[in-house]
Amino acid sequence: MDYTRRSQKVCKGSYHNRYRNKGILYSSFITLIVTVIAIKGFSRLVYAKVIGVCSNCHTMHYSQNGTQEPEWGDEGPYGYLLTKDCLGCHTATDGGTWKDPVTGAPIVYNLSEPSYGIEYNGVKQGLAGGNFYWVEHLDDTRGHNIFPGNPDDNLAIAPGEAWAYSPDGCGSNSCHSNLDRPFQASQSFDPIHGYLNGRYGCRGCHMVSGYNRFSQIKSWHHANDSGPVVDSKEEGWFRFLSGHYSGYEHGVAGIEDDDWQYTYSKSDHNEYLGKQVASGTGSFVSIGANTMTAFCCGCHGVFHVKKSAGEWIRHPVDRIIPITNGYELYTEYDPLVPVARPDLTGWTGPRATVNQGGTVQKDMVMCLSCHRAHGSPYPDILRWDYSTIMDEKGCITCHTTKK
Ligand code: HEC
Ligand code: HEC
Ligand code: HEC
Ligand code: HEC
Ligand code: HEC
Ligand code: HEC
Repeated sequence: MDYTRRSQKVCKGSYHNRYRNKGILYSSFITLIVTVIAIKGFSRLVYAKVIGVCSNCHTMHYSQNGTQEPEWGDEGPYGYLLTKDCLGCHTATDGGTWKDPVTGAPIVYNLSEPSYGIEYNGVKQGLAGGNFYWVEHLDDTRGHNIFPGNPDDNLAIAPGEAWAYSPDGCGSNSCHSNLDRPFQASQSFDPIHGYLNGRYGCRGCHMVSGYNRFSQIKSWHHANDSGPVVDSKEEGWFRFLSGHYSGYEHGVAGIEDDDWQYTYSKSDHNEYLGKQVASGTGSFVSIGANTMTAFCCGCHGVFHVKKSAGEWIRHPVDRIIPITNGYELYTEYDPLVPVARPDLTGWTGPRATVNQGGTVQKDMVMCLSCHRAHGSPYPDILRWDYSTIMDEKGCITCHTTKK
């Protein structure tokens, strides 16, 4: 079932092979567009569910006319009878492709610098989660290190990881500590967490579910989002993100932008749930809320400890943005600096404002206000260059008086 285990080299190779079959690709592309239009009409509602013929993605025997297709790569067969692994479907060889023309998969890794997505200081940042291009082609501070056997050059474990060295902890081969190597449960944890053995990379963050192997979500890519708010396991949660610091049976809730913010504006973006709670203990405890911040804190739990003796000791997260001291000037939603919302119940789509209308003094700063999830052009996976930023953007978007 370990269809993530594949080196980047193989992935590149298979992509070159694959583009030999351009004719077939284009005809399937047209079929796909027709299908998309037929199924979706021109509605803006999202159904984050795969579409298209089964053979775009599945193979019954990993064999065709006695041999395997060159485009599949030589590491299969993969679990769920898939022709590719995560990177295989979510990678593009060029810098311009943001969505795979055959399967419709959103691209998270371009082999050339992404030339699409939100732009800051003349550099484009790819889809909402950013792109693994920079961590692979610039340096290891620009993203999560998900490539097998290629650990972070600077960090031995995830900064702020609360459990790595506890007696029963998972050690440096835990997904919480490192994403470049397969998870192996310690002997005492094996009976409970053994079902996660072998996971790493994409599957350290995505498609993790349930307390044991019996409570796993079986089908994420085929899950039907009823939308617009995606907030249940039946819908595969927001971007297939569950568990972690929010606890078992929880996941991330949000509104999924239908092109993953390939196009974006103040009223065209993802929405994320937040919840202001007392500063955490830093341990891997459940805060029981389906928030993005809780998700990040599954591996960076200590960063949830924010106050000591009434003073901020770490930048607040899931903290309400006040309406005094210049904060009140952040009123028009900027997709470069997202905020979390207190309650998405009844929302019919993204909102164009911050701390206005129904959410006055309720919107929050969160991990993704400053960071991207996958990779970015800047150190610390930031959304802007922390060492040079002095203009209207970034920190200044909220701290308007600190220019
Ligand atoms: C056979 C191709 C294929 C494989 C293999 C594959 N994906 Fe996908 N993935 C897709 C397609 C197509 C979509 C877009 C579905 C849609 O329209 O929203 C998608 C969407 C996603 C999304 C976004 C969901 C959303 O709500 O928009 C995530 C996250 C994701 N995949 C993660 C993964 C991970 C992690 C793996 C490996 C465990 C993986 N994928 C393997 C094809 C694939
Ligand atoms: C665009 C790619 C894509 C297409 C097209 C696709 N699938 Fe899948 N399918 C996936 C991925 C990726 C998984 C991985 C499991 C997951 O997401 O949890 C999967 C998992 C499955 C599973 C196992 C999980 C479950 O739901 O029980 C079955 C069965 C399945 N697909 C059947 C089909 C059939 C039948 C078709 C054609 C009608 C089809 N798929 C078309 C990508 C695709
Ligand atoms: C499954 C565990 C896991 C989750 C969940 C996770 N991280 Fe990480 N994070 C790591 C690991 C491991 C490292 C250190 C190695 C690396 O950079 O890959 C890291 C490093 C980082 C770094 C420093 C990067 C560098 O190299 O300097 C930032 C920033 C970061 N994470 C932010 C986030 C944010 C924001 C989220 C939520 C969207 C998040 N992380 C969720 C495991 C995780
Ligand atoms: C550190 C955790 C983490 C890792 C590792 C990770 N993702 Fe994600 N992924 C996220 C988060 C968080 C989002 C939502 C980003 C947002 O909305 O800003 C996301 C979004 C996505 C999306 C939707 C497109 C987008 O940019 O929003 C896809 C597809 C996806 N991930 C696939 C993958 C694949 C494939 C891998 C491995 C190559 C991977 N992810 C590794 C956390 C992670
Ligand atoms: C207000 C913006 C902001 C918010 C919110 C924020 N960070 Fe950061 N983060 C930064 C900056 C700036 C840096 C790098 C410089 C520094 O640490 O002062 C950083 C660095 C990091 C690092 C690397 C630390 C190291 O030792 O190299 C990790 C990991 C990280 N952040 C994770 C998170 C997580 C997880 C959250 C949510 C709980 C979060 N951040 C919220 C701005 C932010
Ligand atoms: C999305 C809005 C937002 C962004 C972006 C943001 N902050 Fe903040 N920041 C806040 C909020 C909210 C507080 C807490 C205000 C309160 O309740 O006291 C805060 C508090 C702080 C404090 C502590 C102030 C105190 O009274 O102790 C500092 C310092 C700070 N931020 C620096 C930064 C820096 C540097 C950046 C850019 C890397 C940044 N912030 C980005 C919203 C933001």
